[in-house]
Amino acid sequence: MQTESISIHTTVTSASQLADLDLENLQFGKVFADHMLEVDYKDGAWQQPRILPYGPIELSPATAALHYGQAMFEGMKAYKTQDGKVVLFRPLDNWARMNKSAVRLCMPEIPEDIFMDGLKQLVALDADWVPQRPGYSLYIRPFMFGSEGLLGVRPSTEYKFMIFCSPASGYYAEPVRVKIEEHYTRAVEGGFGFAKAAGNYGGSLLPAKLAHEEGYHQIIWTDGREHNYIEESGTMNVMFVIDGKLITPALSTSILAGITRDSVLQLARDWGVEVEERRIKVQEIVDAYQAGKLEDAFGTGTAATIAHIKSITFRGEEMVLPALADRTLSNKISTELDNIRYGLAPDPHGWVVPV
Ligand code: COI
Repeated sequence: MQTESISIHTTVTSASQLADLDLENLQFGKVFADHMLEVDYKDGAWQQPRILPYGPIELSPATAALHYGQAMFEGMKAYKTQDGKVVLFRPLDNWARMNKSAVRLCMPEIPEDIFMDGLKQLVALDADWVPQRPGYSLYIRPFMFGSEGLLGVRPSTEYKFMIFCSPASGYYAEPVRVKIEEHYTRAVEGGFGFAKAAGNYGGSLLPAKLAHEEGYHQIIWTDGREHNYIEESGTMNVMFVIDGKLITPALSTSILAGITRDSVLQLARDWGVEVEERRIKVQEIVDAYQAGKLEDAFGTGTAATIAHIKSITFRGEEMVLPALADRTLSNKISTELDNIRYGLAPDPHGWVVPV
């Protein structure tokens, strides 16, 4: 249990960009709030955290992360409630997951007080950047990378942990068309698909670009061994409603333990919905569709929250899902999650944390 906040040296910008914020024409991740947190790790210890005006950082061309991929991140959001309070959604889960990624990538873990106090003080300073509007939030990007200049292939001895923020609305403008990917693989058992490693995203770009060129918004990834089992959708976890049951791939070393995923499953269980976390064959989805039992499919993630899937294409055959108005469970979950975040519904699991 934390008692006192750590002291963070703060330099407030004299050139706020807030007046230029145009919420009507907001594109995801294009506009950044005024300040950022920066903490260095060297000589075996985390150094004094600093909050600085958002801006460029200076790096050696030999920076470890640029060559050998010691880089990872988190994604989380702050919301403004109706009475103007700023809250975070499940921040300790992001902290815990960041440290799991750190261990897998041979990086130092981040102490809870540095993560939580740094996060809260940064978001409190930039509180005016949290939009007070339904569907809007402040997307928060904590990240860490090996910052030592080195060419030998070994773990960096120096790291930077940073956080910056970006006001956000929805990630996808419309329900997504996806295709089942049977050639490329996102992650394999024993790899680091469960970590929010930068490399997982780098490796997904070419398959996603090829899918875009074919008219799809995203890919549904399948397992790397047989391409028979469903893994994730794009940068999200994926869920299906079949015959009234909520079904999602079980967590493994190749699947990210999404915090939105966990929240959705928890709400469904609270409401008495039957939930199954298990391996799902692509053929099972096809069979359910053909039997008229595929009631819903959607992605879950921090950026997208709930992203409805409009259609799934497998080997050239498009399976078109029911109209949005008929997606009873995912619509109800999406509304309830928003209500909890904006302080409009009770928060029985203690997910919302004030700044
Ligand atoms: C998130 O939802 O936070 C993600 O990781 C998606 C991001 C890569 C935009």
